[in-house]
Amino acid sequence: MYSEKVMDHFTNPRNTGIIEDANGIGEVGNAKCGDIMKMYLKIENDIIVDVKFKTFGCGAAIATSSMATEMIKGMKVEDALKLTNKAVAEALDGLPQVKMHCSVLAEEAVKAAIEDYYNKQKKEG
Ligand code: FES
Repeated sequence: MYSEKVMDHFTNPRNTGIIEDANGIGEVGNAKCGDIMKMYLKIENDIIVDVKFKTFGCGAAIATSSMATEMIKGMKVEDALKLTNKAVAEALDGLPQVKMHCSVLAEEAVKAAIEDYYNKQKKEG
């Protein structure tokens, strides 16, 4: 029921781990299934130069966070904010309907990490 791309990103997730000197960190969870996703961003001149994630969750959550990190790496922060869970799911050649909510976690984790970055900028500036 999963596409090959989902299986690939699930069994061989890209960009896993943490970034020690990340300047944007976001953590989100889904109350229903209890899955948690943490996203680390390294942003320089408003470009996401590095991104890593840790996901304690289902296969679809791992595959979508992996794909999301691949998609936003090298992006401008403002463009990364426009990333939708639908776009992530499409990049994975689709997700079963019951698993769409897992991709929402990926979108929310990216947004939470960017928000954290903006908040830190405000404090510094
Ligand atoms: Fe919880 Fe997929 S079942 S994120």
